[in-house]
Amino acid sequence: MNAPEMVRILGIRTETPTVKTFILNKKIRAKPGQFAMLWIPEVDEKPFSFSKLDGNLEITVKEVGPFTRKLFSLKKGDLIGFRGPYGDGCFRVKGKRICVAAGGVGLAPLMPLIDEILKGNRDLTVIIGAVTEKELLWMDRLESRKIDLLTATDDGTCGKKGSVCDVLKKLVGKTRFDRIYSCGPELMMKRVADIALKEKIPCQLSLERYMKCGMGICGQCCIDPTGLRVCKDGPVFTAKELRGTEFGRYNRNASGSRCDL
Ligand SMILES: Cc1cc2nc3c(=O)[nH]c(=O)nc-3n(C[C@H](O)[C@H](O)[C@H](O)COP(=O)(O)OP(=O)(O)OC[C@H]3O[C@@H](n4cnc5c(N)ncnc54)[C@H](O)[C@@H]3O)c2cc1C
Ligand code: FES
Repeated sequence: MNAPEMVRILGIRTETPTVKTFILNKKIRAKPGQFAMLWIPEVDEKPFSFSKLDGNLEITVKEVGPFTRKLFSLKKGDLIGFRGPYGDGCFRVKGKRICVAAGGVGLAPLMPLIDEILKGNRDLTVIIGAVTEKELLWMDRLESRKIDLLTATDDGTCGKKGSVCDVLKKLVGKTRFDRIYSCGPELMMKRVADIALKEKIPCQLSLERYMKCGMGICGQCCIDPTGLRVCKDGPVFTAKELRGTEFGRYNRNASGSRCDL
């Protein structure tokens, strides 16, 4: 599990102008929120969550830098290094009225969670956000299911003009949610966590940090001042666990230097 295994890419789907899904010839038992380290020899190794767990694993990726650019150049049939699943902290479904708040490609790790939520008799509201309508992920997939779906875009091309948090803030004034789950840009998640803490709604969030070992050894992804490792103790944490930490303020780059958000 901890040595990379070369896995074949069975197919690639273009989801939005900047996001692609890679279908891997790999089946594992993993929980919503867990991730794998993907390795492209002579390029780098980076963490990615699973956007589909049943059957062949799927990984949904936004092109942001050197690794994801190289990944986007790979073709069906190419091989990629895979180690995982990692992350002891994962999403745990509880409660009857649930809200999922996702920003951009942050919807990827939330999709297996949404599948699990819908297996029970629960009321589910999903808020998805993106910079513009074309970047909204999986509208059709979500609309066809028993979900109250709301959207927000920065430019107002679909749904509320503004952020997922603006929509959430209005909603919590009207609906009493038992749980909120979130993933997306960190400043968005910080606002989600603050709303949840203020309203006393239990909330889980999936965090991103620069990772090296991905399995709790090197200390690269520790959260100040708790020392919780995002790769091992997370990547999913409760809003309470993150209160008073570096979350929403800064993270660390490859050399360990602080980078303000
Ligand atoms: C547990 C975990 C799970 C992850 N799951 C996914 C996933 O499912 N899909 C996915 O696309 N990414 C995911 N990521 C993020 C991914 O690992 C990084 O985006 C990765 O660093 C990309 O490598 P790169 O070399 O292409 O870009 P880098 O050189 O590492 O980053 C380029 C620039 O883009 C910024 N950046 C990083 N991520 C994003 C983003 N999502 N949106 C906008 N800007 C960003 C960085 O801050 C940096 O300034 C996950 C990260 C973690 C820790
Ligand atoms: S990346 Fe090494 S401890 Fe998390």
